[in-house]
Amino acid sequence: MDLYDAINARRSVRSYTSDPVDREALKRIVQAGIEAPTGCNMQLRQFIVVDDAAVIDQLAELDMTKGASAAVVIVMDPQGTPYGEFWVQDASATMENMLLAAVAEGLGACWVEGQVTPKEPELRKVLHVPENLRVWSIMAVGHPTKHPSRPPKPEFDKIVHFNVFGG
Ligand SMILES: Cc1cc2nc3c(=O)[nH]c(=O)nc-3n(C[C@H](O)[C@H](O)[C@H](O)COP(=O)(O)O)c2cc1C
Repeated sequence: MDLYDAINARRSVRSYTSDPVDREALKRIVQAGIEAPTGCNMQLRQFIVVDDAAVIDQLAELDMTKGASAAVVIVMDPQGTPYGEFWVQDASATMENMLLAAVAEGLGACWVEGQVTPKEPELRKVLHVPENLRVWSIMAVGHPTKHPSRPPKPEFDKIVHFNVFGG
């Protein structure tokens, strides 16, 4: 799939069928996440691929899945680097790569982060994540029931400047 087509087709999907997601597709999506850049190449990420209905149900009870039949949880080691702290940016770049890979797989996905931190203790318990690591964000992924419409985005000319602000 052309990269620009994937970028333009990607939407946050919040409604899914109950069909399972192919494990091999999930692995390719995670590999795309692994390919994302990380600050100082620190590689502070780990991934939990969730496709077992019993675990998905527990995530759904915590309102983390949007009804999707699979999820990828990004777990971060919140270490600094000699140049500063980049682990949040690392996780974000990783998430975007995975969202685009989900499009390439013909799947829908949604970045779920809003409620993750307040529910981190419960998530840590469900997913057996050790105390020294952060449960940072979750990608719900599955077969969409429909393609969401594009939400409002600013017009290019209103927010893009050439060479200097206002240029
Ligand atoms: C950091 C971040 C956190 C997000 N957290 C959530 C979330 O918790 N739940 C949710 O439904 N969408 C979440 N989203 C998705 C945004 O709501 C979505 O990207 C935005 O509405 C624009 O829609 P689009 O992705 O279809 O372009 C998050 C997106 C980002 C970048």
